[in-house]
Amino acid sequence: MCSVDIVSLLGINENRALPLVLVTRRLPASALKKLQSVCEVDLNRDHFGLSVNLLCERIKDKLGLLCLVNDVIDRQVIDAAPDLRVIANVAVGYDNIDVEYARNRGIVVTNTPDVLTTSVAEFTWGLILSIARRITEGDRLIRANQWTGWALDFMLGMELNGKRLGVIGYGRIGKAVAARAKAFGMNVVVTGSLSSGSKSENLLDKEDDNIRWVSLDELLVSSDVVSLHVPMNAKTKNLIDRRALTRMKRTAFLVNASRGSVVDENAVIWALEEKLIAGAALDVYESEPRVQKKLLSLENVVLSPHLGSATRETRTAMADLAVSNVIAVLGGEEPLTPVLS
Ligand code: DGY
Repeated sequence: MCSVDIVSLLGINENRALPLVLVTRRLPASALKKLQSVCEVDLNRDHFGLSVNLLCERIKDKLGLLCLVNDVIDRQVIDAAPDLRVIANVAVGYDNIDVEYARNRGIVVTNTPDVLTTSVAEFTWGLILSIARRITEGDRLIRANQWTGWALDFMLGMELNGKRLGVIGYGRIGKAVAARAKAFGMNVVVTGSLSSGSKSENLLDKEDDNIRWVSLDELLVSSDVVSLHVPMNAKTKNLIDRRALTRMKRTAFLVNASRGSVVDENAVIWALEEKLIAGAALDVYESEPRVQKKLLSLENVVLSPHLGSATRETRTAMADLAVSNVIAVLGGEEPLTPVLS
């Protein structure tokens, strides 16, 4: 949409003040420019975001809020903004927002689905390959000057070909991860977040006979790689706990590029130390950006700093979609991607 369209959509004319929008962090230039062409933007340029007090102060007079996953938009913040009409999260996940409270206040909440699916799926495969083939572990070894040379039995990993990938959460991202398994010769089992059975089988792509719907328990006991792609909510919090980990094969790997709290981090550390699973690749953590010291000391772990959607293309598309959502709602139109749950 060109800026002229946006201006007319918002009903802006020379005599009318532009709607005020708070943007909690820096945005790609193109998205910021688009927003600034029709709104008065209060941009926080600080990489670390705003403290609760500052957020409450700066949101007071705003009609729109554009925020990131690490901004906690709870009742206190929402209450501080009596005129707020839209909260646009630059993320597909929205567990950082009290959606129900916002909805009760008549505020539209939006997220950025679809545009990051490929990027997160590709990254997940990066995690799978890194942990199964010990790539980051080998990198650490070389940097520590400890490589003594090629040997037949040196740093052996697990071949993916012929193995089973278990995808927990068969939404957009789970599907995209599963679809790429064929390229590695893996068969796939999938499940929702709970131990449901056949009801969800109709979600499967019928022509893909490489993918089978199973219960959560069957997935855990039979998979060589277990990859998490569920949203974080009351049902999925600590879905992977001590019990779940003990159901996994001792040779299996756990991969998490969803939300840290889907996994009980202490339970994972315990399972890794007790060698109940072979390793874990984690992109997300319970208290980001804090990562437990114990995880840092374990060799059979790949740790990345919440990079799932971090490509130039995707982050630009996410910001652009969030901006479009703000403009649509403030212009009295339907949002492109509202949070419906
Ligand atoms: C999301 O969109 O929810 C991601 O975690 C951000 O990369």
